[in-house]
Amino acid sequence: MATDSSLPDGPAMDTSLQSICYKHGSLKLLDQRRLPLETIYLDIQDSTDGWFAIRDMVVRGAPAIAIAAALSLAVEVCNMEAFNGTSGDAASFLSIKLEYLVSSRPTAVNLSDAATKLKEAISKAAANALEASPVFQAYIEAAEIMLRDDVASNKAIGSYGADFLLHQMEDSKRLSILTHCNTGSLATAGYGTALGVIRALHAEGVLEKAYCTETRPFNQGSRLTAFELVHDNIPAVLIADSAAAALMKAGRVNAVIVGADRVASNGDTANKIGTYSLALCAVHHGIPFYVAAPLTSMDLSLSSGQEIVIEERSAKELLNSHGGLGEQVAASGISVWNPAFDVTPANIITGIITEKGVITKSGSDAFDIKSFIEKAQCISQ
Ligand code: MRU
Repeated sequence: MATDSSLPDGPAMDTSLQSICYKHGSLKLLDQRRLPLETIYLDIQDSTDGWFAIRDMVVRGAPAIAIAAALSLAVEVCNMEAFNGTSGDAASFLSIKLEYLVSSRPTAVNLSDAATKLKEAISKAAANALEASPVFQAYIEAAEIMLRDDVASNKAIGSYGADFLLHQMEDSKRLSILTHCNTGSLATAGYGTALGVIRALHAEGVLEKAYCTETRPFNQGSRLTAFELVHDNIPAVLIADSAAAALMKAGRVNAVIVGADRVASNGDTANKIGTYSLALCAVHHGIPFYVAAPLTSMDLSLSSGQEIVIEERSAKELLNSHGGLGEQVAASGISVWNPAFDVTPANIITGIITEKGVITKSGSDAFDIKSFIEKAQCISQ
């Protein structure tokens, strides 16, 4: 993985930040560990570079991880000098690389969802060709489509979310929203999910203020979300994670909106550690709590959140400053438990904002995500 601090040549995406800069045969990832102080892009040449960039948090956020993984393999294939084999060999070569990429981080389902869809595209191509090159071509095209689709899907999430909130909260003319972690342009191909809803409210002129948490221990909130909000001139205030309850008690929050790494079919949602505490606080104070996520974050194979594998990260993220990147700050010898995510149960989630509309509960404690997706598919056919 080579460092490249020059400005990226990528598809223009409004004026918002771009973490993934791709053009056919070249992929640069904004090194999010260096933000907000330095803007450095790393050159990703193959799936091994992609795997390390994901594991080491150069790129993070469920949708961004999936797209970066897919594109790292696309550039590898695009720049491959020769491949000796049939279409079937090409399909198994790609499948093995995809499995390897999926192993980089376990909790966000978007990565395995992307791998499954890419495998479908390559087996279809392999069934219709004898040579390897149409299979590689089909893979590259499918990965490039994922990059394009993500921005459109986030804009739809933003628009559905803003309309829904305005409708639900007719009494409040302007809304203050609390969010957690980073769900913006840096966590996606562009625009963002929960931060996309905040962007849409701001564009409508109805956002009073966005509150973002620091999001310890890796500080995605203070380093990344705060950076995006300042960059886009959105009125915003940074709070310590531990200040959220007091902020809600003071009546300064109209709604909490967070992203998701994996949503089980009943709506239980895995997201950045600390999300569950925010949801409990919101319920206690009668504040609606929303999850904003694309359908690629839904895992219909899981009946509840109990089955979600929660990634545990290095103790260093707590022992050292800057989420593990700086000097030691904690007492030597202390043991550490550092889960990167927690699961918020569906019964305390008010609604799930997707690119196909807002999923709500009808008289039960759980969401019926499967029926919602089936209906959405029927309508778009
Ligand atoms: O560990 P991270 O930074 O990858 O965690 C990110 C989150 O938990 C986000 O809230 C989630 O992925 C949604 S991003 C649109």
